[in-house]
Amino acid sequence: MNKTPIRSAFVLGSSSAVAIAICRALAQQGCLRFQLLARNLSANQALVDELRQTYGAEVNVQQLDLLENKPSPPEIPGDFDLYLITAGSLGDAELARNDASEALRITTVNYSGLLPWLTSITSPERINSPGRLWIFSSVAGDRGRPSNYAYGAAKAALSIFAEGLLLRCHGKPFSIRILKAGFMATPMSLGKAPQSLCVSPASVARDLLRHPNRRGYEYLPWCWQPVMLLVRLLPNFIAAKL
Ligand SMILES: NC(=O)c1ccc[n+]([C@@H]2O[C@H](COP(=O)([O-])OP(=O)(O)OC[C@H]3O[C@@H](n4cnc5c(N)ncnc54)[C@H](OP(=O)(O)O)[C@@H]3O)[C@@H](O)[C@H]2O)c1
Repeated sequence: MNKTPIRSAFVLGSSSAVAIAICRALAQQGCLRFQLLARNLSANQALVDELRQTYGAEVNVQQLDLLENKPSPPEIPGDFDLYLITAGSLGDAELARNDASEALRITTVNYSGLLPWLTSITSPERINSPGRLWIFSSVAGDRGRPSNYAYGAAKAALSIFAEGLLLRCHGKPFSIRILKAGFMATPMSLGKAPQSLCVSPASVARDLLRHPNRRGYEYLPWCWQPVMLLVRLLPNFIAAKL
């Protein structure tokens, strides 16, 4: 098991509310080097300032829009103790029902646009050294639902790809952690999920860092595991209303 502390982190989707909470918690625990990739650099600036000024961390920033076509494989600048993938987007589910280009955009941000990055991160050299890759997927990938099946399908593909990586890294010092998140109180869930059922990004960060060396599948919070077991068993006439 990889027991090295997390002193450096590469974060793809660093302006996400969950990524901000995790970076803050990491810095509080002594993580001193961050490589932050964000689409919107100004939305990322408060985190950059906090990490530098409050925690004295070295922070490098890179702009990345997953919807922009990048032909060459992305370069990962050095090695990190943790690679965290939080980029994702619900997109416009209503539009995606009738406009395949929106479904393709949703697929790109949540799955296919991440593939070059996941491939570069899991190079043969890297997975033979200690390290961690944590990937935010979603319970939405466990069963197709009328309300957001393009997003669900992309997250399902991401989970399966990540599971392949998990098994490829079995017995190796590099660990893969697949996070099947339920509702979290972030801009993504605003107006889409009952806020009383949403957990805070800070509590997600706390839970994750309580077991920094875990590998495998994990529901966040854990209670989504039995819930999704039930959801998968629902007959179609009930599931059609979800
Ligand atoms: N919130 C939930 O209830 C929930 C539930 C299950 C799973 N998840 C997953 O958890 C992860 C974290 O999401 P969150 O809840 O923290 O939501 P969030 O705050 O909305 O974060 C989403 C992140 O994805 C980035 N992103 C969107 N489109 C992008 C693109 N084209 N290129 C690059 N980055 C892009 C956003 O960048 P901008 O700041 O530029 O928009 C933002 O940093 C996501 O993968 C999400 O699918 C969330």
